[in-house]
Amino acid sequence: MQPRTTSQLATPALLIDLDALNGNLRTMSLRHPGTKLRPHTKAHKCTNLANLQSQYGHKTFTCATPREIIGMAAAGVGQDYLLANEVVDPNRLSALAKVSQSARVTLAVDSETTVMAAARAGLRDVLIDVNVGLPRCGIAPALAGQLADFARTQKLNVHGVMGYEGHLMMIDGHEKRKQRVAESMQLLARAAQDVGGEIISAGGTGTFDLHDETCINELQAGSYALMDTHYAKLNLPFDQSCFVLGTVISKSTDWLVIDVGLKSLGMDHGNPSVQGFDVMFCSDEHTTLAPKKDSVNINVSVGDKLRVIPAHIDPTMSMHELAFLVRGDEVIDSWPIDLRGW
Ligand SMILES: Cc1ncc(COP(=O)(O)O)c(C=O)c1O
Repeated sequence: MQPRTTSQLATPALLIDLDALNGNLRTMSLRHPGTKLRPHTKAHKCTNLANLQSQYGHKTFTCATPREIIGMAAAGVGQDYLLANEVVDPNRLSALAKVSQSARVTLAVDSETTVMAAARAGLRDVLIDVNVGLPRCGIAPALAGQLADFARTQKLNVHGVMGYEGHLMMIDGHEKRKQRVAESMQLLARAAQDVGGEIISAGGTGTFDLHDETCINELQAGSYALMDTHYAKLNLPFDQSCFVLGTVISKSTDWLVIDVGLKSLGMDHGNPSVQGFDVMFCSDEHTTLAPKKDSVNINVSVGDKLRVIPAHIDPTMSMHELAFLVRGDEVIDSWPIDLRGW
């Protein structure tokens, strides 16, 4: 039987507040309408959520894994997918080539090896992934044009460039962040000139409002839909819409324990938050909470339920099979987190 209220849910349970989610999607779609936003599916891994994003006008998507593209295509959500990541596995590339017979699949490449792997698998469309300062994937800007020429000799269509400025998302201070983003995007602009093509793709939630004067023509944001405590520090106009519901399973004089721990929360950005409590620590299956001094929540009993706000949304989503859509404490629907895996 489908639970009707959050009190009936077995925990840990992933909750998505539908009104907050819609608010976030609306805010972003007003700022970056249609193809100006290429929503990143890695942040939620859920075709139902991607479908809602498409109802806000976005038909092009960014993906981080072949599985995300294959799942999106199978669900019929979107017709144009960018794999913003390098892949050399021939089986996965062949699976992507199959999808590319009925949808646009563009693969990021940053070396001759990734170009040849794409061509060999029968993929036709690539973007040159450019290093704009984050020590991760991406070719040096000065070499991007050369790689594009090489890709063309392999009969690949080079559609442009991407460059992810992930190292700048959390720079403190709006103006300082804007300045650093502008500098980083100059590297991408230079590469775009050498590479040619129609796409200049970059950005994320933390830089969603810093690209008005940069060269990019599409933003790859993902976290904005669900949010986390990490991004909440930037005071962005997006509300927390995702929570992990836990049950109080033990109570002592000075603390209480809920059944949400490391195995149901992405922890690489630090401890999660629970309104009214200080998080003492998290362990595999538990989080230990101390009531804040001025808290009105201290009357919590064993068996009660509390909402935990994740510190990092992407890995949190990939730990859950299902998300329950809620309005207040009413459970409206459930969505499978069906794009997990690689
Ligand atoms: C390639 C790429 N583009 C864009 C993003 C933006 O994501 P977010 O909106 O979560 O900042 C990420 C996040 O890691 C990414 O890896």
